[in-house]
Amino acid sequence: MCGIVGCASSNGPASGMLVEALKRLEYRGYDSAGVAILDPDSADPIHTVREVGKIRNLEAKLAGVEIRGRTGIGHTRWATHGRPSQENAHPHRDPTGAVVVVHNGIIENYLEIRRRLADQGAEFSSETDSEVIAHLIARNYDGDLAAAVRTSVRELAGAYAIAAIHKSEPDLVVGARQDSPLVVGIGDTSNYLASDVPALLPWTNQVLYLEDGQVVAVRPESVAVTDQDGNPVPGEVVEINWSPEQAEKGGFPHFMLKEIHEQPTTVSDALLGRLAVDDSEVVLDGLGLDADGLRNISRIALVACGTSWHAAQVGKFYLEQFARIDVTVEYASEFIYRDPVLDGNTLCIGISQSGETADTRAAMRRAKDEFDCHVLTICNVAGSSMAREADGVVLTHAGPEIGVASTKAFTGQLVCLLLFAVRLGQVRGTIPAETTRELCRGLRGLPQELEKVLRTSDAVKAVAEEYYESRDFLYIGRGVNYPIALEGALKLKEISYIHAEGYPAGEMKHGPIALIDDGMPILAIATQGRTYGTIAGNVEEARARGGKIIALVTPGDDRVAAAADQVLVVPRVHEALTPIVNIVPLQLLAYWTAVSRGTDVDQPRNLAKTVTVQ
Ligand code: AGP
Repeated sequence: MCGIVGCASSNGPASGMLVEALKRLEYRGYDSAGVAILDPDSADPIHTVREVGKIRNLEAKLAGVEIRGRTGIGHTRWATHGRPSQENAHPHRDPTGAVVVVHNGIIENYLEIRRRLADQGAEFSSETDSEVIAHLIARNYDGDLAAAVRTSVRELAGAYAIAAIHKSEPDLVVGARQDSPLVVGIGDTSNYLASDVPALLPWTNQVLYLEDGQVVAVRPESVAVTDQDGNPVPGEVVEINWSPEQAEKGGFPHFMLKEIHEQPTTVSDALLGRLAVDDSEVVLDGLGLDADGLRNISRIALVACGTSWHAAQVGKFYLEQFARIDVTVEYASEFIYRDPVLDGNTLCIGISQSGETADTRAAMRRAKDEFDCHVLTICNVAGSSMAREADGVVLTHAGPEIGVASTKAFTGQLVCLLLFAVRLGQVRGTIPAETTRELCRGLRGLPQELEKVLRTSDAVKAVAEEYYESRDFLYIGRGVNYPIALEGALKLKEISYIHAEGYPAGEMKHGPIALIDDGMPILAIATQGRTYGTIAGNVEEARARGGKIIALVTPGDDRVAAAADQVLVVPRVHEALTPIVNIVPLQLLAYWTAVSRGTDVDQPRNLAKTVTVQ
């Protein structure tokens, strides 16, 4: 939540870069934005501009204002303390205006600090938790901003990524992190800070990931990382293989639509080098466990949030079916506070697009520290906190996902979970060779099947145009497609704000069927597979009660199609692959519904892409 950027440049003004980089972080929060730029030649050397709403509002406010400074910081906000307003927008300054900061995270003890400083006469101009940071740094400043930041963060409890500037050090931006991501971008004549890599791609693909407890001094010609005591820490610079274009819309009206359409490619990227040429086995590097280690696992705990939790639910089916192992799926936010029964033979897998979700990170840490589990992450961002903290990493290789509603990362997660289940089944001797071959062949053909689904986008759009004014939606599925019903419903509510519920179709009779009245849309996932017969019956029951049935079926279907008002046809694939195919029309349905309703598809209200607070 919230995006922060910083820039220390030796060529040209910082303001353009800061605004551009903020736009690339806007998915992290978008209720207000601001920049602070240091111009040593000006009478008031720190020029701060803040505006409520999206970054385009800030940009409009900056238009025509000439700010020549080459060092600055910026922020796009997702409000936690204090409503979205100009006063609460970042950057925040100390009362003298000497220090200006931007912050992402939550300072848990800010009230305590604020009261103490207020007792000493300090006045505050915002309701935020972040403002105390500027006050502390200003009080601790003695000619060395990095030292003042180190001293100040010792007083903070909670999560933070901070960037700070001081009017007396015109070429310097200081960053610090604890439990919130911060990356340093290394350029030729300029260096940068950002919450996330996509923000920096137009300027550099060389980055250094700051670790918890570290402080960095960024100048145009140098980057110096220290621990909290000021001891130099050698940072490892890594090259990112994402291109700036991957983080742009590429001719699509929205990132979400672009990302839906990228899925044939991203699925193929997730498979790259992971299937033996003769389809006889799955090869997965980076697990941090050899074959014996994998054999010693006695159970698996999957932890995740949101869409990634839905992927985990599908993963449970894969692991139980192909690796014959006991699997639990936990909401990471619940797992942290429960008393799970885990031990050193439990494998904990944290699933996450961003690799930064606070709850999932905390759950993984707990599994490792308290229960001694081997911890693996299936994640989309190499170098993210989870990728660095886990014992093993399986990257989804979906490329940067910018739309707040997760799409291509989800299908990448499903592919990786299936690959892992097959690999585990091989070493445990629970998957027949023929099944492995069928799955590998099916996976290889998946990109072409997804292309076929994408070609039905207009048909899905027509359905969306029929139902976009509905107040409620039900999604029903069974077996491995029940989590797809959940995910389809989540997509719809996230971006169209229509109330939608996903149910296992067999549960309808136990209560939810009471909701069905004339005209209520029910999306039934009724593709061929072992639950087809029973879901066909559930569709007929819903239809008999006046429900409008939108059915997802495979070619040649006559029973469900006959009971449906609208039919969306998806190609026939191996049953284990149906979730990966079936989710695509549901993503499109949510997308076209949101477009018809005129909502903000990529940045839906109240949401942020990366949830770095618990
Ligand atoms: C997905 O559409 C959501 N915006 C959200 O549920 C997301 O999946 C969740 O916050 C988890 O994020 P992560 O995968 O980055 O950990």
